[in-house]
Amino acid sequence: MNSVLYCLHNLSQKSHLRRMEKFTQHGDTSCLLHTIAVAYYSIKIAEFFGIKYKKRDLIRGALLHDYFLYDWHDGEKERRIHGFTHPMTALRNADRDFDLTDTERDIIKKHMFPLTVIPPTCREGWIVCLADKYCSLYETFKKEAYRKINTKIMGDYAELYKEIQMI
Ligand SMILES: [Fe+2]
Ligand SMILES: [Fe+2]
Repeated sequence: MNSVLYCLHNLSQKSHLRRMEKFTQHGDTSCLLHTIAVAYYSIKIAEFFGIKYKKRDLIRGALLHDYFLYDWHDGEKERRIHGFTHPMTALRNADRDFDLTDTERDIIKKHMFPLTVIPPTCREGWIVCLADKYCSLYETFKKEAYRKINTKIMGDYAELYKEIQMI
């Protein structure tokens, strides 16, 4: 969790990341908490299966995979195809605000596979793709998802997290 919060803190500087706290992803989970959870579970998956991976790229890609920066529940007409279009929107925003590696780009662009037909071309992309599906399902059916992660953020990392939200 330390490394996820560390990357989150770095990415929060001079970016729009903090806005993701205001947007709902699934159920009562914000986009920001969703991406923190996806990063956290991506590491868990990689370590459980003993997969070699680039940690920084995996975490940053996971944290930015839904960096589309709008509320997809706002009823706008174009939101009907949000599932298909938001990876490219997130990638455009992330490319504008950060210096991305090719792996990070692949993670963001392909995370909706198989809905978007081109599969990831790196291990990190597959891992985030899987973690995202798991987290999305979990958030849809679970009230106050990630209570433990949230408590940890609020407890151990309260000052850092507050800073991230305030930047
Ligand atoms: Fe997404
Ligand atoms: Fe996602």
